[in-house]
Amino acid sequence: MSILETRHQLWPDEAACASSAAALAQRPGIHLAFIELRGPLGAGKTTFVRHLLHALGVTGRVKSPTYAVMEPYELPGRTPSHKAWHFDFYRFNDPQEWEDAGFRDVFASPGLKLAEWPDKAAGLLPVADLQIAIEPQQGEQRSAEITAHTALGRSLL
Ligand SMILES: Nc1ncnc2c1ncn2[C@@H]1O[C@H](COP(=O)(O)OP(=O)(O)OP(=O)(O)O)[C@@H](O)[C@H]1O
Ligand SMILES: [Mg+2]
Repeated sequence: MSILETRHQLWPDEAACASSAAALAQRPGIHLAFIELRGPLGAGKTTFVRHLLHALGVTGRVKSPTYAVMEPYELPGRTPSHKAWHFDFYRFNDPQEWEDAGFRDVFASPGLKLAEWPDKAAGLLPVADLQIAIEPQQGEQRSAEITAHTALGRSLL
């Protein structure tokens, strides 16, 4: 996967994670992006997704899709409304589910796709526009490395 550009961020606390997500939400084209979130358990992947979806106008609860693997959302404010899907592939181990659960169809349709633990679905996922790698530091501090792999991804940086 080619790397077009990388940005490094330091988030001293969750509020900084939220501002980074809010800035990303402002980018034109975000509603068409495929974004992978990497980092260890408890790094803040779901937290970033939650802040991003809320900044995009989702009002309901944004829960971790660990058991469902995929949570669908509607992004309000446009007609027809844009769609978003949040995946957590941590427990994904049956490639047949890719077809059965309709994930192939999701990745073939326009919308925002966010995926935690993408390595567990390697070989099935398309090239990510952005990869966000979150590493816990001291306390609430996190480092985030945001890498663009496509022209769309670069425009989101
Ligand atoms: N700077 C920060 N950025 C993001 N989250 C933070 C930060 N500081 C503390 N947190 C807390 O860290 C926790 C991160 O949990 P979260 O569920 O987002 O992790 P995750 O990466 O999705 O883990 P998993 O791999 O289990 O899905 C949350 O409780 C969040 O409030
Ligand atoms: Mg998570």
